[in-house]
Amino acid sequence: MLDVDVGRLISEAEDARTRAIAPLSGFTVGAALMTGEGKIYSGCNIENPSLTLSFCAERAALIKALTEGERLFLAMAIVSGDGGYCFPCGACRQMLFEFAPGIVLYLASDAGVKKYTIPELLPHSFKL
Ligand code: THU
Repeated sequence: MLDVDVGRLISEAEDARTRAIAPLSGFTVGAALMTGEGKIYSGCNIENPSLTLSFCAERAALIKALTEGERLFLAMAIVSGDGGYCFPCGACRQMLFEFAPGIVLYLASDAGVKKYTIPELLPHSFKL
């Protein structure tokens, strides 16, 4: 199993966060997703005045990777601009459960890094 360079993953998420488009909330988020082969896809949140069209950083990274044909994911780092931990929203948890059920999430804040799995964040999840 490939080792995850958590420091690098967090720094890729930080880099992606600088590209966030968040004029409505002012809350910027960056995510970096590592595949089974060690490739990294990053994403940032993209807001839209029609609020329901806004897109989270985690799903942006996941969609980028899936559309490139990636199917195996090992880890994701998530950072936000307020210095606190950014827990993925319900929609992102459900998407990660569907496409990356074994992923390890690294949430980075000014206070350090916390590690979570999808079953921890989305127990009793819906599946068909
Ligand atoms: N957001 C994310 O990008 N990821 C999360 O896990 C939570 C929320 C974004 C969506 C919106 O642009 C802003 O943060 C405030 O909700």
